[in-house]
Amino acid sequence: MAKKRILSGMRPTGKLHLGHYVGALENWIKLQDEYDSYHLIADYHVLTTDLSTDDIYNNTIEMVIDWLACGLDPNKSPFFRQSQIKEHAELFLIFSMLITKARLERNPTLKEQVRDLNIENIVYGHLGYPVLQAADILLYKGEAVPVGEDQVPHIEITREIARRFNNQYGEVFPEPEALLSNFARLPGLDGNAKMSKSLGNTILLSDEPDTVNQKLRKAVTDPLKVRKNDPGRPEICLVFTYHKKFNPEETDEIEKNCRSGSLGCVECKSKCADKINLFLEPIIEKRKFYENNIEQVKEILTEGERKAKVTASATMEEVRSKMKLG
Ligand code: TRP
Repeated sequence: MAKKRILSGMRPTGKLHLGHYVGALENWIKLQDEYDSYHLIADYHVLTTDLSTDDIYNNTIEMVIDWLACGLDPNKSPFFRQSQIKEHAELFLIFSMLITKARLERNPTLKEQVRDLNIENIVYGHLGYPVLQAADILLYKGEAVPVGEDQVPHIEITREIARRFNNQYGEVFPEPEALLSNFARLPGLDGNAKMSKSLGNTILLSDEPDTVNQKLRKAVTDPLKVRKNDPGRPEICLVFTYHKKFNPEETDEIEKNCRSGSLGCVECKSKCADKINLFLEPIIEKRKFYENNIEQVKEILTEGERKAKVTASATMEEVRSKMKLG
């Protein structure tokens, strides 16, 4: 039986952090054998919130290096930039006729972004963010999309657009489903629910041990645990969440000792930093290899874009034929 098709995507904002790993990459890597995957670099999507294009290429390369360093395999699944495959723009235009402005204004992910970034007057392309995302997914006939919670509304919009197209012009597209990662998102070092570059509360996949130690030392913990022997509340502590992810064997003990007050934050953080450093060690090593072989990274992109183009143009042929355009 043919493998199911996955389309996964990320905006290239530079070096990736642990939140990207836990919320997305880890899942992508797990799924790459079981599914026929395509990995999209959503460089056009970056423009919805940042018009400067000076760093996009560099950020793309940094992101691809992190993908490779974590174990995503370009021989199994192509890596490609949205901007290099013109069919994305073409399908986006057609899809923009199949959804109303009111529907897009109801998108909760958009509302959250408008609030967080203090956007006063939204640009047309930003409102259409999920329409471009629908084109990204459906151009490759993605049947499953591994995403975090915040992207689920976009997958719902994708399904609506697929249905609308199929009803109007004939069956072309599957209705993709969201594959949620089983670990809830990783909190930031400042206690914010989300690790995010714009909040400056991240641990990068490329952070060296010294940096990780320093960052953790400054991490926010339970504000009521002021002295070492004060009892702490692991359930509200971000360091405890990191332990759950990167130090599962010791979680029970840490929980008990934090609550009783026998374990202080300094020691707990240092244990946590050690575990994170252990996890990052092989990633940093592979990263260095690719940093020294940038040509190879660029070739991986070129090859991925060649493969993606074949699939994308076949879908567009089908779309044009169903629409009797051409
Ligand atoms: N919107 C996604 C994010 O911010 C990135 C993205 C763009 C994407 N196109 C996609 C994700 C297609 C999955 C499928 O994380």
